[in-house]
Amino acid sequence: MTHVNLLRKWMYALLAFLLVLTICLWKETQKGSFFTLKTDSQGHLPLKIWIWRTSKLHTVQDAAAPGTTDAPLPTKTVQVAAKKNVSVMPAIKVWNKNSSSKNLILRLQKVRKNYLSINKYHVSYTGPKNAVKHSPEEVLCQLRKRLNFQMISKLDGPFSTSEWEAVLPRRNISTEVGQLGRCAVVSSAGSIKSSRLGPEIDSHDAVLRFNGAPTRGFEADVGVKTTIRLVNSQLITVEEEKFLTDPQYNLGTLIVWDPAPYHADVYQWYRRPDYNFFKAYKHYRRKYPGQPFYILNPHMQWQLWDILQENAPEDMQPNPPSSGMLGIAIMLNFCDEVDVYEFLPSKRQTDMCHYYQKLYDQACTMGAYHPLLFEKNMVKHLNRGTDEAIYTHGKVTLTGLRNVQC
Ligand SMILES: *[C@@H]1O[C@H](CO)[C@@H](O)[C@H](O)[C@H]1NC(C)=O
Ligand SMILES: *[C@@H]1O[C@H](CO)[C@@H](O)[C@H](O)[C@H]1NC(C)=O
Ligand SMILES: *[C@@H]1O[C@H](CO)[C@@H](O)[C@H](O)[C@H]1NC(C)=O
Repeated sequence: MTHVNLLRKWMYALLAFLLVLTICLWKETQKGSFFTLKTDSQGHLPLKIWIWRTSKLHTVQDAAAPGTTDAPLPTKTVQVAAKKNVSVMPAIKVWNKNSSSKNLILRLQKVRKNYLSINKYHVSYTGPKNAVKHSPEEVLCQLRKRLNFQMISKLDGPFSTSEWEAVLPRRNISTEVGQLGRCAVVSSAGSIKSSRLGPEIDSHDAVLRFNGAPTRGFEADVGVKTTIRLVNSQLITVEEEKFLTDPQYNLGTLIVWDPAPYHADVYQWYRRPDYNFFKAYKHYRRKYPGQPFYILNPHMQWQLWDILQENAPEDMQPNPPSSGMLGIAIMLNFCDEVDVYEFLPSKRQTDMCHYYQKLYDQACTMGAYHPLLFEKNMVKHLNRGTDEAIYTHGKVTLTGLRNVQC
């Protein structure tokens, strides 16, 4: 009796297991489809390989929400498919140029709304908003026609004193930098870590870096060449940043920028800059008179903001564009072609803000203070390179404004 009972129990368990297995398999077939392949000429045994629907792979490519890092490649499937000569597009998830504030996590949506209500810089934009979808060429023409790349000179109101004349560079920046060929803009994003992009970056004619981004200790990933360094007024004003003493700042041409109110003329801005960096600027110039060091005319940031807003589908944070976007615009002015690294995140994307700091916040990729989301949409729109290059190298290739036919 006990033997029969035990056998019966085993049978029930086996039946239950088979039932569950059947349900699971049935569910899986709803998600994918079966590809029937013949094993060889002898057996004619159909071998069923479960595979993602190719249509599904296509949608994964651009529809995924940016900022999420949880879309693994179906690598196993692709390997099987390759072995059996079934061509399957591998899923590449890169920045979607149609991203909107809906793609932001709730916290960042609130931050954006908050900046909109504060409107610190008194932005009153009245131009068009996403009225027409401009082609990449049209956007490049907007940048070329409407951005004034002049730096502050002794001709600019409050700077026409003998004291300022003595510290401002004698040559204008166009003469100083000249016309450049292939340029690289190196973002400070955490995702450039372990990229091994150093040699590729250094192969460019000129390289632009940002703020305190070091090359020492990170040569393999970010390279060593520094032609221009764009710094914000906070970095040069705050003593802890060691701007006056750290030798990494002594390389190449320096440009500093400071946020001004939207409508401010140079006088108003000079009286009330965001960070009062003028003293530190003069100090640095006297200490290193041989190094070209310019002050960005504060109008440029709002000219660029207006173009971003015109091409954006909704209200942007009324704060200046990021250093990253300003640096891209500056290089577009000087170079024939600009490769931007890790401004649009690669497969290495993390929430790590900078490759040289252990600081994690999704705002660094998606934007909180700066309208980063809309900047990235524009850069993706202008990209001449491939999605693969973004995915593997975080690399976007843009046409220099000189080479745009308007
Ligand atoms: C299948 O792939 C292998 C290796 O890539 C190749 O040598 C072979 O010619 C392919 N066969 C067909 C039928 O495409
Ligand atoms: C972006 O939107 C445009 C127009 O709405 C559409 O044609 C295009 O396919 C979209 N692109 C992506 C990558 O979603
Ligand atoms: C820069 O200076 C050079 C030589 O003085 C001059 O020819 C050129 O027009 C200036 N460029 C700008 C943009 O002011």
